[in-house]
Amino acid sequence: ASTPVKIAVTGAAGQIGYSLLFRIASGAIFGPDRPVELRLLEITPALKALEGVVMELEDCAFDLLSDVQTGDDPAKIFDGVNLALLVGARPRSKGMERGDLLEANGAIFSAQGKALNDHAADDVRVLITGNPANTNALIARHNAPDIPAERFNALTRLDHNRAKAQVAAKAGVAVSDVSHLTIWGNHSATQYPDLYNTLIAGQNAAKVINDQEWLENDFLPTVQKRGAAIIEARGASSAASAANATVEHARDWLLGTPSGDWVSQAVPSDGSYGVPEGLISSFPVTTSGGEYTIVPGLEINEFSRAKIDASVAELAEERDAVKALGLIG
Ligand code: NAI
Repeated sequence: ASTPVKIAVTGAAGQIGYSLLFRIASGAIFGPDRPVELRLLEITPALKALEGVVMELEDCAFDLLSDVQTGDDPAKIFDGVNLALLVGARPRSKGMERGDLLEANGAIFSAQGKALNDHAADDVRVLITGNPANTNALIARHNAPDIPAERFNALTRLDHNRAKAQVAAKAGVAVSDVSHLTIWGNHSATQYPDLYNTLIAGQNAAKVINDQEWLENDFLPTVQKRGAAIIEARGASSAASAANATVEHARDWLLGTPSGDWVSQAVPSDGSYGVPEGLISSFPVTTSGGEYTIVPGLEINEFSRAKIDASVAELAEERDAVKALGLIG
């Protein structure tokens, strides 16, 4: 067998972790031939719960799982890791202002960025799922000057998958018939799922659906507010679907996107599509050999332009807020 790939997961004792770890250990990211070593980071009070999760991992007797290490010290957990899935974050508690939330998460993601910078493997890739994901990614990246900026992504794949499922249901087609969907902007209620470049069985999705009222007043808010709808129904935030999206983002980033399609990833902007350079914003990307390319040259109509600009403006505001807090240079 080949050498194990070392994968760090933070917030490993949380809800998403409870789905994610078992998917990873069964080979969902790197396939059935690549052993994995898990490095699980938690805060000290959660280490006991994490031990229980590790017992369950043991009880699955996964062929591919070569080792599991746990701890509360990022320097040790991130040592030599090839992939870091940063899931753990500080949730907004009652009465917490937005600035307090950014500050609490800023402390977490600047410390983890520094630890990755100093201890991770040279080929490390870092995917941030913990919210506010795009801005947490920005903070981590600014605190890791020795790691190339493009190694920091944030998760919008769940939004991508949600939009895809809504389109398939509306058009009465299989999910596999829907391709070339894009989520633009921030992983927040301002995100913009773009159907004007999406295809349904190779045809323009907006034209096939031909229902502007649905697109603007049903589809968009349904995708944008899906997270809240799940909390309302389930009494807890989406976890299995978030874990699935984290797996799919990492798999496609490392192993490549299917030919003839693209996926949505929040990546540091190179100025494409008028998104200010450096903001970690969602784009359509293809990947090959562990490197992504922002899909160039898509037509952006007036409606899309306004929606993208609004979400990007929110990202710029978040960046300015964390800059004011001294979390990024
Ligand atoms: P959870 O609260 O069940 O678990 C989070 C875990 O992170 C907890 O066990 C906590 O102890 C741990 N944690 C907190 N600070 C940490 C630190 N400094 N280092 C290591 N671990 C730490 O939350 P859940 O449901 O697993 O969600 C995790 C995050 O993912 C949340 O921020 C949530 O908003 C976000 N999320 C993002 C989605 C996306 O599409 N980008 C979708 C769904 C959730």
